[in-house]
Amino acid sequence: MSSAFTPSPSAAQIAPGAFLLRPDELRALGGVKWNRYPAEVLPAWVADMDFLTAAPIRAAAARVAERGGFVYPLREGKDIGLVLAEAFAERMEGLYDWSPAPENTMAMTGLVQAVFALVTGLTDPGDGIIVHVPTYPPFRAAAETTGRRFVAVEGSNENGRYRWDLASVAPEALRGCAMMVLCNPQNPTGRVFTREELEAVAEFALAHDLIVIADEVHAELLHPGQRHIPFATLGPEVAARTITLQSASKSFSVAGLCCAVMHFGSAALKQRLAARLPERALGHPSAIAVDATLAAWRQGGPWLDAVRGQLTAMRDRLAARLPEAVPGARMNVPEGTYLAWIDMSAVDLQGAKSAYQFFLDRAKVAFSAGETFRPGAERFVRFNFATSAPILDDILARMAEAVRG
Ligand SMILES: Cc1ncc(COP(=O)(O)O)c(C=O)c1O
Repeated sequence: MSSAFTPSPSAAQIAPGAFLLRPDELRALGGVKWNRYPAEVLPAWVADMDFLTAAPIRAAAARVAERGGFVYPLREGKDIGLVLAEAFAERMEGLYDWSPAPENTMAMTGLVQAVFALVTGLTDPGDGIIVHVPTYPPFRAAAETTGRRFVAVEGSNENGRYRWDLASVAPEALRGCAMMVLCNPQNPTGRVFTREELEAVAEFALAHDLIVIADEVHAELLHPGQRHIPFATLGPEVAARTITLQSASKSFSVAGLCCAVMHFGSAALKQRLAARLPERALGHPSAIAVDATLAAWRQGGPWLDAVRGQLTAMRDRLAARLPEAVPGARMNVPEGTYLAWIDMSAVDLQGAKSAYQFFLDRAKVAFSAGETFRPGAERFVRFNFATSAPILDDILARMAEAVRG
């Protein structure tokens, strides 16, 4: 293992709450989350965290600007794509004892870009793409907007925990399927797949000869007692058909920097993509984005530990207070992520056409609309609780007042 990977020191180095921002400070960041809606609306939608970015990341970005030039970059004597790939390998080794090959890793500007590149480059129009539902909307779009077939594995809520039965997919729907998108931790349910569940996915992928896109972007945001298992570690046969997507964007709240990696579990898979989509057509992240990602992965440990504590505290606060604020609301307590998938079916929405619209109009709170994750889920919302206790409490108070009518 390279010496550049430093396991995170104690969270005590970051004062609890040192990264929390007030609404005026959050608006001043100039992001979509706090500026898309009018100022009276509290946002709990898009997956950005309401936290000041870790100091080493800010310093890394500032260093590039301070040098006074924005030239074609070289880092450690290498192209930045390779430096990023090596840093990714270091991090995976440190966290999971997994050694992804840097030569089979590509630097990308984002995971959604990677998903679209893989769907269009590795499948053909008419092919089926299998996805666990409810799902992060771009996975559906990657199939439906490119002439592929979106094939849902519908989840069922068992005692507050989502489960997916792969055997529930009809054989007719399975015919002509070429790919599966595995999002673990799962967005929007916050499920962290167990080894047993991952093995079932692997067996299914082998049986149906599927390529698997493993989107593991939320993997470092697990709550206590949970463990992330990279899908590609399930065995050589599984790795050979898996493309793992990772970045610092969710765990370190740097999505706007646009930097991600796409790791192919075999050189053959990477070549298959290159034959259809030349690497140079895909673009790559900027030097600032790569420097910032390196700083996050190598020096962001104390910040991340403190943030994880905050996220678990906010998850538990929401779970404890929601039943009283909104009687009838059913929340799955997420095992990972800062996203809660909440069922408002038993709540009187006073004639509103969706739970999203109800809370936006009556509570001035913006959630992500349930129907964007699954058609027909108008009575669900996805609640982003990566915020401070005062903002969370304000959201809950507004929701309580709205449901009282
Ligand atoms: C599961 C998942 N994948 C991908 C993304 C977006 O990644 P990017 O901004 O790198 O395209 C998100 C953002 O919320 C996400 O939740």
